[in-house]
Amino acid sequence: MHTEVVPIDADPPDAGAIARAAAVLRAGGLVAFPTETVYGLGASALDADAVARIFAAKGRPSNNPLIVHVADIPDVGRVAADWPGSAARLAERFWPGPLTLVLPKRPDLPDAVTAGGPTVAVRVPAHPVALALIRAAGVPIAAPSANRSGYISPTRAEHVLSGLDGRIDMVLDAGQVPGGIESTVLDLTSHPPRLLRPGLVSPAEIESIIGPVARPASRGEPSASPLPSPGMLARHYAPRTPLELAEDGGARVEELRRAGLRVGWLAFGATELAGVTVVQMPCDPDGYAARLYAALHALDGAGVARIIVSRPPESDEWLAVRDRLRRAAAP
Ligand code: TXA
Ligand code: MG
Repeated sequence: MHTEVVPIDADPPDAGAIARAAAVLRAGGLVAFPTETVYGLGASALDADAVARIFAAKGRPSNNPLIVHVADIPDVGRVAADWPGSAARLAERFWPGPLTLVLPKRPDLPDAVTAGGPTVAVRVPAHPVALALIRAAGVPIAAPSANRSGYISPTRAEHVLSGLDGRIDMVLDAGQVPGGIESTVLDLTSHPPRLLRPGLVSPAEIESIIGPVARPASRGEPSASPLPSPGMLARHYAPRTPLELAEDGGARVEELRRAGLRVGWLAFGATELAGVTVVQMPCDPDGYAARLYAALHALDGAGVARIIVSRPPESDEWLAVRDRLRRAAAP
């Protein structure tokens, strides 16, 4: 299959390009598109065959459910069977935006979307291209991140192509996306609501609207119960190059370099080291998140034998970044 790359301005998106992409989606095809978090790989959520194509293109295990993207709150009713007060309050505050809500699914939503489960994950994305595309398609859009399963999520169209060129119909290329890591996933079907994946909306922000939420099991704590969804697997969001978190990044880099290894380093603050590919990372969590995947894609393509990441602070604002780094480092 030939993958067509369609450059598009974000604001306002070109109506002709949106109409062509929407036609591909309505015909059961796959279109990668920018959201405010990462690029998504979209298909009509109401078309079971199209959804099956997402799993095939990504090599995604069929037991890992997809997020459905809708253009506004009334359209949630096309995929979810219930809209609790907590959902209404959160949507009012955070939509359009990087918060995904898990709700009871409608019986007629294809099972492939929810991996056969009784719940559906849904959000309204904040990117103008994503919103225009969903509106033009006229159907809810199922969209996981547009990468091969387990690999780093794409924050540019080039990243999408590096994994999926020839496997999908079209990419809408609006350049680098602003957010950089995936949405927060919150399960509203459990009591209290449970944070399934930390993201750009923090637990404190959620709790300020609906009260206490249960956190994911903390680091290293083995969980007796089955994982709530396979996307919570230990190794995920991972580059091909082995990645290591280091308390003292500089010392570790120096050690490996002396041992003759080519090393890439995600560092805080200005640093230069002969023979080491250094990426300066911002010292604030949002800035760091926005740059993280592009930095990992770059180092993965730089031919280094090891990626060393200086460990970010333990505070709550760094929760989502630490989560992604921990999974990228998992063996
Ligand atoms: O920012 C994002 O959320 C991006 C953009 C494209 O919207 N999408 C994304 O999708 O990251 P994906 O498929 O890469 O991650 C979706 C996560 C997975 O961990 C999946 O297991 C979980 O959401 N998930 C989806 N449906 C679920 C459900 N019904 N119950 C529990 N977890 C669910
Ligand atoms: Mg993903």
